[in-house]
Amino acid sequence: MRMVDLIAKKRDGGTLTQAEIDWMITEYVADKIPDYQMSAFLMATYFKGMTDAEQANLAFAMLNSGDRLNLDEIPGVKVDKHSTGGVGDKISIPLTPLVACLGVPIPMISGRGLGHTGGTLDKLESIPGFNVHETEAEFKAQVQDIGQAIISSSGDMAPADRRIYALRDVTATVESIPLIASSIMSKKIASGTNALVFDVKVGNGAFMKSQADAEKLARALVSIGHAAGVDGVALLTDMDQPLGVTIGNSLEIAESIAILKNRGPKDVRELTLTLAAHMLVLGKRAESLEIALGMCEDALKDGRALKAFKQLIERQGGDSRVVDDPTLLPQAKYKVPVTAATDGFVTAIDSNALGIAVMQLGGGRATKDSVLDLAVGLVLHKKVGTPVTAGDTLAMIHADSDDIDAVAQAIQAAFTIGPVAPVKQPLIKQIIK
Ligand code: URA
Repeated sequence: MRMVDLIAKKRDGGTLTQAEIDWMITEYVADKIPDYQMSAFLMATYFKGMTDAEQANLAFAMLNSGDRLNLDEIPGVKVDKHSTGGVGDKISIPLTPLVACLGVPIPMISGRGLGHTGGTLDKLESIPGFNVHETEAEFKAQVQDIGQAIISSSGDMAPADRRIYALRDVTATVESIPLIASSIMSKKIASGTNALVFDVKVGNGAFMKSQADAEKLARALVSIGHAAGVDGVALLTDMDQPLGVTIGNSLEIAESIAILKNRGPKDVRELTLTLAAHMLVLGKRAESLEIALGMCEDALKDGRALKAFKQLIERQGGDSRVVDDPTLLPQAKYKVPVTAATDGFVTAIDSNALGIAVMQLGGGRATKDSVLDLAVGLVLHKKVGTPVTAGDTLAMIHADSDDIDAVAQAIQAAFTIGPVAPVKQPLIKQIIK
């Protein structure tokens, strides 16, 4: 085979066979296909797309380029969640102990934040002592013992994806649905889970800006999962404003603790409960979503989910006293309000801009090597639909520097205030199986 022929085939709208995709990925990882040819193939795919079979074959080829965890020795249906990433998305943190305490094992391999979105591992590291690095044996033992673990990837999972993703990043080919779906699924299948719930974000703070694109991505993820024998459900959820009222690592842990104490913002609670209910059904612990929702509500009310979170923290070396006293989490030196300039209603919040503002405060990574300030962030006092009067606090900045005028201006500009209350949008827009 010759790579130039495969590029031409894709350029002309053809469909690559499994053998061709396997050959291409194997040769690329072995450095026998140069980056410029792979880049041309990625661009051709960006324009011509892939069939369901092609994107599944690409996911499998990238999966087969590296290690694959086998969790068969752990009893039960192992279920994981994947979010396509949003601003203020801390759901994995309350979700994991909630689902684990109801008997579904969650082996979660999570990521760090980059750019305007945060990462679960960074958030957890704001708990003093919390360790996200475990060997495969430790990870398996923990999931077996307490039904949950949240760690960073240890082995060499899907190295082909790592290299291709880096190339996509610099060739303007990240935003291709088959490439995104095969990339995500190569890593998720490698993590050994039996079933997956996807939270596909739609809106100004998400990868997918339109519901039509989000639906295509959701269908691609579920379809690749099915081809791999991994059961899946995808929820399309709103990211036209940040999730909850906090953005920033330790602030988001405090909000997650509030959810586990049966309090906290309504949207975070609704999404946590809905995703958890789908996981209980996929994990065969509940016969219906209604029953599952009732089980989750009970576990929040009677403290089982909170207790499971303490157990997770302790098992991973963290100080579980933060659960009873969230002031033990890193605290910022300054709290500075951002106020409304006019009266009206908040009609829109630019989540992307708020994510970038938190990154500029030091709470997110501008580059892979940035060192984070885990204390800083934002607490939103107003969300979309809320009436405001000029001078009201829109958001409180938590900062460790008092040189934040530019960031404060950007935050104020991220809120659109208009004369008419906007139509309320549902948080969960669509469910795809
Ligand atoms: N996340 C991934 O893992 N891959 C993509 O291509 C996009 C988001």
